[in-house]
Amino acid sequence: MRIAQLLKSTDYGTDVVVKGWVRTKRGNKNVAFIALNDGSCVANIQIVADLAKFADETLKPVTTGSCICVKGRLVESLGAGQGVEVQADEIEVYGTADPDSYPLQKKGHTLEFLRDIAYLRPRTNTFGAILRIRHAMAYAIHKYFNDRGFFYLHTPLITASDCEGAGAMFQVTTLDMNNLPKTEDGKVDYTQDFFGKSCSLTVSGQLEGELGALSLGQIYTFGPTFRAENSNTPRHLAEFWMIEPEMAFYDLEDNMALAEDFLKYLIGYALENCREDLEFMNKMWDNELIERLKFVTENDFVRLDYTEGVRILKESGRKFEFPCDWGCDLQSEHERYLVEEHFKRPVILINYPKEIKAFYMKQNEDGKTVRAMDVLFPKIGEIIGGSEREADFGKLNARVKELNMPEKDIWWYLNTRRWGSAPHSGFGLGFERLLLFVTGMGNIRDVIPFPRTPKNAEF
Ligand code: 4AD
Ligand code: MG
Repeated sequence: MRIAQLLKSTDYGTDVVVKGWVRTKRGNKNVAFIALNDGSCVANIQIVADLAKFADETLKPVTTGSCICVKGRLVESLGAGQGVEVQADEIEVYGTADPDSYPLQKKGHTLEFLRDIAYLRPRTNTFGAILRIRHAMAYAIHKYFNDRGFFYLHTPLITASDCEGAGAMFQVTTLDMNNLPKTEDGKVDYTQDFFGKSCSLTVSGQLEGELGALSLGQIYTFGPTFRAENSNTPRHLAEFWMIEPEMAFYDLEDNMALAEDFLKYLIGYALENCREDLEFMNKMWDNELIERLKFVTENDFVRLDYTEGVRILKESGRKFEFPCDWGCDLQSEHERYLVEEHFKRPVILINYPKEIKAFYMKQNEDGKTVRAMDVLFPKIGEIIGGSEREADFGKLNARVKELNMPEKDIWWYLNTRRWGSAPHSGFGLGFERLLLFVTGMGNIRDVIPFPRTPKNAEF
């Protein structure tokens, strides 16, 4: 039985077997108390070993980090704050953990230190809680869409198209880097590469997602995406997970309504289903976490034009590190000013200048802006980016030409606008940005099991 179940049990006197990792061992000359954790919940179960029953050699290797199997009886606990404990009859040590070398000791460790030993940090209370919340959020995402008739579409990770047009892609090749085949004009000859052309890891599943929406009606993708941007910030990963719903017949209004409902559902799901772990995070890392989560589920998001947002920023009198004029790409400091100081709630910013947004967004009548939307969150800044898509072949084709995008890689996408085009919209939610918000953590490296960032691909 898992410890999470046992701790809720009142079957006093029944025989039980528990297996897990020792957090601490203490005691006196009559009895040893072992705090055991098996990862099923943040709480430990107390194992009581009567020293009259156990030889010294049995208990000596039971140290912090060792893995044991205990057979015994579940009894009501007299200790404060715990309902049950296990009176041990037999203890088997599966794996020892030499106290001189085991890196995780009883004292708290810094998050920086734990990042260096990311292969062991799931054994800590904090990372146990984060990884359980991560699991619950992944499940809730599938549940949300399944309950609403969306289909999970698996889009490729290897692609030849740069969806966001930012050129921040990781190349995928089997060519010999030390002996590259060349064409007559001295360029790399990709016809000899595995796929017969230059390919990369995808930055987004959206382009293929749109094909799904224009056939199945409403789909979502949920998978890893890759960005080779050299940004070492607490909010960027080189490999992150993204959820991208795409809906036929949705305009920007519908898209915003879905994004707001989706985020509120996920946060509400965490409040309802991850209570113990959230309370632990609230106590250890962020005393306002649960309040903030509740606040977001209970209040409407502000909807604001980019132009209006820039006016507010300029009239704020605030000295920003990067001053902002109409046309500038908002920095995190601007986003957070709007959300945390001006409106004091999440903001959906829409109708951005077309120059700072991707080629596929629906162009507005003004010729200057596109029907983009970014959802901005407290402490995070941008958590969602999305838009209504340009459904008109002529306009999309003109934009592709204007940006000099290679037609040989994007022709199939353009064709969706030639045959049975439809108004449609979608967005991308950064899974780790969501988890930053839900767990209260401050660094994105701490909400993914094995972070990938510039100069770091350990484990
Ligand atoms: O705004 P982005 O670049 O939008 C897209 O990729 C669209 N194709 C989505 C769509 O419309 N289907 O990225 C979407 C979200 C961001 O709002 C952010 O939450 C997250 O993905 N994100 C990152 N998360 C972690 N590390 C990075 N380097 C990220 N880049 C974007
Ligand atoms: Mg964006």
